Parts: sequence; C-alpha cells; structure tokens
Amino acid sequence: MQRDDIKTLFDQQAAGYDERWAKTAPIRDALHFLLRAVFARLPADARVLCVGAGTGDEIVELANRFPGWRFVAVEPSGVMLDLCRRKAEAGGFADRCGFHEGFLDSLPATSPFDAATCVLVSQFILDRDARIGFFRGIAERLRPGGVLASADLAADVASPEYEALLRVWLDMLLSAGMPAAGLDQIRQVYARDVAILPPAQVEALLRAGGFDTPVLFHQAGLIHAWFSTRADFT
Ligand SMILES: C[S@@+](CC[C@H](N)C(=O)[O-])C[C@H]1O[C@@H](n2cnc3c(N)ncnc32)[C@H](O)[C@@H]1O
Repeated sequence: MQRDDIKTLFDQQAAGYDERWAKTAPIRDALHFLLRAVFARLPADARVLCVGAGTGDEIVELANRFPGWRFVAVEPSGVMLDLCRRKAEAGGFADRCGFHEGFLDSLPATSPFDAATCVLVSQFILDRDARIGFFRGIAERLRPGGVLASADLAADVASPEYEALLRVWLDMLLSAGMPAAGLDQIRQVYARDVAILPPAQVEALLRAGGFDTPVLFHQAGLIHAWFSTRADFT
C-alpha cells in the first residue's frame, strides 16, 4: 500500500481498532508470551524500537514486564499513536516512551537500539525492494547483535492449503465477532493490499534487509513471527 493510504486506513480504523480485535486476544497473547522470552536476555535498561506500534499492544506488554526498558513508538497514523500514548499514560510508563508520528525514515537519529518489534507491519509493503529497505532501516537502527521480533501474515497463496487455512482463519474471525460483511472485505484486502508471501520468502527478505538467521518462533493461523539478529554490516 502507498504511505498515504496506510495513514488514512489506520486513522479511520483507530477508534474501533482495539474492540475489533479484542476477541482474537488469545492469538496476540501467545505471541506476546513468547516475545517476552525472545527478549528475556536484553539488558535491564534496554531501548526498544517499536515500528508500526499501532495502539501500543507490544509496548504495553513489554513495559509492564520489563520496568527498566525504554521505548520509541514509530507510527504513521496519528490517531493510532494518540491511543498508544494514552495507554502509556494510563499504564504509568509514558515517561519511558518516545512517540514519533511518521515512518521510520523520518525518525531523528538516536543511539542504537537493543531490540525492535514490527508486528503485522511489513506485510503492507507490496514492493519487494521497498520491503527489504524497510527491514534494512530497522537493522541500521539496531546495535550489532540487536534483535528484531517481526510478525507478518505468511502463506503460499497459490497452494490449496492456503484456501483451506484462509477459510479457517475467516471462520475464526467470524467467531471472534467480525461481521460477515467484514470478512469479504478482509478477503479482498488480503488479495489486494497485503503481501502474503511464503514464510521462506519473508525470511529471505529479512536476510536481504540485514538480519541473520531468522527463526520462526511462533505461528498462529496465518500469522508467523520470527526473531532475527542484526547482521554484522557497515
Ligand atoms: C495491523 S497494525 C499492527 C499494530 C501493532 N503492531 C499490533 O500488533 O497491534 C499495523 C500498524 O502498522 C502501521 N504501519 C503500516 N505500515 C507501516 C510502515 N511502513 N512503517 C511504520 N508503520 C507502519 C499502521 O499504521 C498500523 O498502525
């Protein structure tokens, strides 16, 4: 999707975003449970970059578990970012957070981060080289050896398994309260606006973007999550 379209889409969705996805919490919670373990060896004063922070789910989770960590939320949708900021204020950890409205390339230079998250973000970049550049932009903000935890929808959409899994995924969303009309919309959005690639291809993009050895640590339906380490590049 184009940058303006991303911002418009999530500005429009922001008000109902958390409620819309509330009943899929078991999926998010499992991802966050493992994410804590992926980041468990970071220093007690780690700095974490959250790209596509949305309404702040990853930050809330990590800030509550790791009271010495600091965060920078990067988010192009000002409305999503406002909700993220409000959650941080309500949770009492806003003083450990920076909030940047915009894309990563507009974030002023900082000292390198120990880790980064980008959960369900890179999938919106349809162009392969741009998606590699997105991962490269994150790698360049990490210290050598810094860890990225990323998640995206991934599947071989040309396979018969995809159609079967998509059906299960949409049934899951239906049971989680998504209206049937919304399901048709999701089907269209996946086909048109989301780059759902086979997991091996996402791993290749991560490597091309400057990350070593992506490790698939979680899969729930279409969502795949990897951790990978910033490669030693200059
Ligand atoms: C599906 S939401 C996920 C939000 C959050 N990470 C979560 O898991 O709850 C995707 C978010 O990424 C943001 N986003 C999309 N493309 C982005 C990009 N290229 N750079 C940074 N953020 C982006 C959107 O504005 C949106 O808030």
